[in-house]
Amino acid sequence: MEQHFAVIGYPIAHSLSPQMHRAGYRELGLLAEYSRFAVEPGRLSDAVKGLKALGFSGWNVTLPHKESIIPLLDELTPEAQRAGAVNTVRRDGEKLIGHNTDGRGFTRFVENELGQFQGKKAVLLGAGGAAKGIALSLAERGMTLQILNRTSKKAEDLARSIRKWGGEAIHGSLTPGPWLSDVDLLVQTTSLGLHGESFPLSLAGLSRDALVVDIIFNPWETSLLYEAKLLGCRTFNGLEMLLQQGALAWEFWLGGEAPREAMRQGLLEGIGR
Ligand code: ATR
Repeated sequence: MEQHFAVIGYPIAHSLSPQMHRAGYRELGLLAEYSRFAVEPGRLSDAVKGLKALGFSGWNVTLPHKESIIPLLDELTPEAQRAGAVNTVRRDGEKLIGHNTDGRGFTRFVENELGQFQGKKAVLLGAGGAAKGIALSLAERGMTLQILNRTSKKAEDLARSIRKWGGEAIHGSLTPGPWLSDVDLLVQTTSLGLHGESFPLSLAGLSRDALVVDIIFNPWETSLLYEAKLLGCRTFNGLEMLLQQGALAWEFWLGGEAPREAMRQGLLEGIGR
């Protein structure tokens, strides 16, 4: 029997999840389809009922529905509870289970590079939705966080919520400082760079040992990553994070191990590389 999966969000036209998952189905010869649906904020409840009635086995959830879908679900996994957000739903019979693979998707590839997280220091640029998930998953694994944001109040709020949760976090403004010389992991989580604009912060003085990640992957290399590379740092764009969260969603739905290499190729084709 054919299985159906989807991603819902608004807007959704930019989502590469269909290319990624379909490439995986082809690789394993699975009879499955993955669709993309634009769901306006006021129609979420109808859309969830519709997906359930149509027999969808599971779906991904993206902006702006990651939090508002929670009351429409029957159960949450510990990952979704901790994040207070859902990016993956699985239908178990009549039950809808909400899960979150964003945080683990991020730490999974970063740990290949960094090894131990405990006691290491991460600086996050930005304090929006993307920063929150990443901050939580890093703090949970024992990293010390410094959150820098244009609007200092948002960085302060995020740092406070990380501390409330038991993690170590301080905040500051988006400016260079002594943090540059002793950072183990630098993560760019803002939307700056999406349109090719340069990042308004010089990385001069950044430790060569720092691992630098930009969650943007289109454009492939933001000005921030370019500068970090020139300084001799290891750099990653956001493709790996997207791939790992997708692979973890696959495994939550279908069990077994996701065909990551085929999924990576699907993503690369999707962005024309
Ligand atoms: P997301 O959920 O994708 O993180 P968001 O919640 O809208 O999106 O957050 C966007 C982030 O990009 C914020 O940290 C925002 O900074 P502010 O909190 O000061 O708004 C940051 N950002 C967006 N445009 C920016 C700019 N021109 N300069 C600096 N930071 C910017």
